[in-house]
Amino acid sequence: MAVKYPISVTPATRSKIHEVDFSNIPFGKVISDHVFIVDYDGQNWVNPRIEPYRNLEIAPSNLALHYGQSIFEGMKATKINGVPVLFRADMHARRLNVSAERMCMPNMPEDLFMQGLRMLVELDKDWIPEDDDHALYIRPLMFATDEYFGVHASETYRFLIFTGPVGPYYPKPVKLWVEEVFTRAAQGGVGEAKCAGNYGASLLPAQRAKKNGYDQVMWMDAVEKKYVQEVGTMNLFFVMDGKVITPATTGTILRGVTRDTIITLLKDWGFTVEDRLISIAEIADAYWRGTLQECFGAGTAAVVSHVSDITWRDRRMELPPVDAEHRPVGTKLKKYINRLRTGLEPDKYNWLQFCENTGVAELAMDKELVTV
Ligand code: COI
Repeated sequence: MAVKYPISVTPATRSKIHEVDFSNIPFGKVISDHVFIVDYDGQNWVNPRIEPYRNLEIAPSNLALHYGQSIFEGMKATKINGVPVLFRADMHARRLNVSAERMCMPNMPEDLFMQGLRMLVELDKDWIPEDDDHALYIRPLMFATDEYFGVHASETYRFLIFTGPVGPYYPKPVKLWVEEVFTRAAQGGVGEAKCAGNYGASLLPAQRAKKNGYDQVMWMDAVEKKYVQEVGTMNLFFVMDGKVITPATTGTILRGVTRDTIITLLKDWGFTVEDRLISIAEIADAYWRGTLQECFGAGTAAVVSHVSDITWRDRRMELPPVDAEHRPVGTKLKKYINRLRTGLEPDKYNWLQFCENTGVAELAMDKELVTV
């Protein structure tokens, strides 16, 4: 691996890994031993380092807390023959910079992102779970660090990456409520950016839907409340009349990496994929005519998650059960992606990046251990 940046490594004295029950990992609660941190001083990214995972000190006047300059990514690592492997990390690095530009934040050099990420994942490789549907979730995060409470773009920032082992985000097929009161994003807004505010704004509608027995909301467009957008935790796909349709990325929804993976695979397998506007009325019509065959969500955390039913106003559309006979498209995709990430399919698209020989082991050995 090309080592360009002098990333210092301070290993944790005592790993927390023995406290983790790998047979029961709640999503998002377990965090691995180390974190990669780099600071932006107003001109350059400085002091790249890997340290024991720990709390940060944040000033009450920190700009990100007040005005939301905070963006993130989500990706996963698995193992192939014992070697950690990332899935499409380069695409995540590029998408982080698209979010950064929209939120008036600095560009993170892709090679610095990749070098720090590879070293971190190699160092914490024992945290990668190997059961089916499990992976090491990776969370890159960038936020403002200026201490100032006037509304302006921060001059300084922190970028960090931490990781944690995860199982499935949705262990069961998902029930969706078609949301027509609240909206997620409008044209010209920040719907395409992976910024903290998009997720904060989704919590109240999601909580209301949960109270009524749904798992998530299906967002509609902000103007006509007619066209399907995404779920917030994943992009959506519909199988109708043998064709696969996914809402177009017109600036209000996230350009999902898993979405792109699925479109590429399906086209390669000979499916007709339509990347276009799709209205909820068209979906309901297909359902009543009996041609809506499948609906599934796609995302890093969700991978491919089947939707069990969609409720639009007072109409409940129940989709076929997830078994060997039904849902062939979503099931095949999920299986293929999992096989690809564990080396059981050839990496013909060059989507995998291995994390070995990064030099992190030698750097960690050289250091005096610190207690945190
Ligand atoms: C992801 O899929 O990685 C996301 O960032 C969405 C969230 C459900 C964790």
